[in-house]
Amino acid sequence: MKTNEIVVLAANAEHMKYAEHICQLIYESALQRGTGIARRKPEYIAEKMKSGKAVVALDGDRLVGFSYIECWSHGDYVATSGLIVDPEYRHLGLAKRIKDLTFKLARARFPYAKIFSITTSLAVMKMNTRLGYKPVTLSELTQDDEYWQGCEGCVNYEVLLRNNRRICLCNGMLYDPAIEHPAKKSSPFTPYLMKLTTKLPNFFSLKKPE
Ligand SMILES: CC(C)(COP(=O)(O)OP(=O)(O)OC[C@H]1O[C@@H](n2cnc3c(N)ncnc32)[C@H](O)[C@@H]1OP(=O)(O)O)[C@@H](O)C(=O)NCCC(=O)NCCS
Repeated sequence: MKTNEIVVLAANAEHMKYAEHICQLIYESALQRGTGIARRKPEYIAEKMKSGKAVVALDGDRLVGFSYIECWSHGDYVATSGLIVDPEYRHLGLAKRIKDLTFKLARARFPYAKIFSITTSLAVMKMNTRLGYKPVTLSELTQDDEYWQGCEGCVNYEVLLRNNRRICLCNGMLYDPAIEHPAKKSSPFTPYLMKLTTKLPNFFSLKKPE
């Protein structure tokens, strides 16, 4: 397989046609792994593409990978979620390319937000670590109820509730720009910039795919 022919790019409305297939890929891989997963509806995935909050990998017309971002707690946090690579395209460095662009997208659109991900995947933990994420308990992540409601479809949801959303089978990983880029913390304008970048997301969106 020629990996240099696979393009990884910021998604837009043109890619909404792949939403159903992405949900299927996510579901099938969760069944195969036997681990829990937060299920997403095609409309939810399509909305992320339309609003420029997703990344797709394409081999010609075939969708072979995906991930998306969403902001929580009024823009204090951004989650990178839903990473999936088509089983036929794994171990080619594709997840790394998707992760890198998703991270870039999150940093460009929400530069003052903490970026986090929850995962049971060793591959994801390795990639997050390289990007500067640190392991944390789930209590360090957004406390936005809507985010955790996304876990309702997971087989381990009871475990999460039993532990008051502090710990679960997923590991929490957090990138804090105030630690990695201390200059971001010191500006008196930071709270205003945070609000602005959250309220006017399209203004800050990445223009074109790599
Ligand atoms: C996890 C997944 C996205 C990895 O995709 P991929 O394209 O095969 O990953 P890459 O080839 O880019 O590899 C990235 C890194 O992860 C490592 N890796 C990949 N698969 C791995 C595995 N099964 N176990 C341990 N490490 C793994 C690679 O060695 C590489 O690390 P390195 O740079 O140190 O060599 C893919 O297996 C998948 O879609 N799994 C099902 C869905 C899933 O688990 N998503 C994550 C939910 S949080």
